[in-house]
Amino acid sequence: MSGTLTMAACPTTPAAATESPPGDTSATATDAPLRRPLVLVGLMGAGKSSIGRRLAQRLGVSFADADSEIEKAAGRTIPEIFEAFGEEEFRNGERRVIRRLIESGGPQVLATGGGAFMADDTRALIKEQATSLWLKADFETLFERVSKRSNRPLLKTADPKATLRDLMARRYPVYGEADIVVETCRVPIEETVDKVYHAVLDHLAHAATPAP
Ligand code: S3P
Repeated sequence: MSGTLTMAACPTTPAAATESPPGDTSATATDAPLRRPLVLVGLMGAGKSSIGRRLAQRLGVSFADADSEIEKAAGRTIPEIFEAFGEEEFRNGERRVIRRLIESGGPQVLATGGGAFMADDTRALIKEQATSLWLKADFETLFERVSKRSNRPLLKTADPKATLRDLMARRYPVYGEADIVVETCRVPIEETVDKVYHAVLDHLAHAATPAP
């Protein structure tokens, strides 16, 4: 596996790596087709589902959302699962669903819930059988997005801002193990999808190039 490729979607991000200019055709899906699942990881509000769905369309593969699959399998919403069974049971279901999707899925884009990549066995499975991409967002972007909905049990605390900051501190080093990192911020979604698409194609092209 080659090293982590960081792509910045925000013009002011200092850690920007080389990017393909818009419309660049040097790497295309035809040159380097997706052969394994592409697993999107990152915190709540990073845009894994909305970007993942559009990215899958662009890559010409199917899209699956692990959280939706867990809800389907359980016949309950995620807040209901947390409420009725607790977080540990949710995590067990999450592990099973992600394993099933990865092992049966082939090329696909798979959006995972923010805690999925934190589980050692899930992370090991993803490293072995998939390509991982971290949608890395700044605190303000995440908080603005998660504040619009009340469907995140982990943020139902006395101080959701502090909780989110704490999750960032604990999880970002682990998300950093992803194969590809794309920094996102508050720009139109198609702009981010374009950055992610090119980051994936660049990664696949480099992964396919034999070392000299
Ligand atoms: C969680 C994130 C949620 C969902 C659950 C737990 C987490 O998914 O899986 O509420 O631990 O970060 P999103 O990241 O899609 O919001």
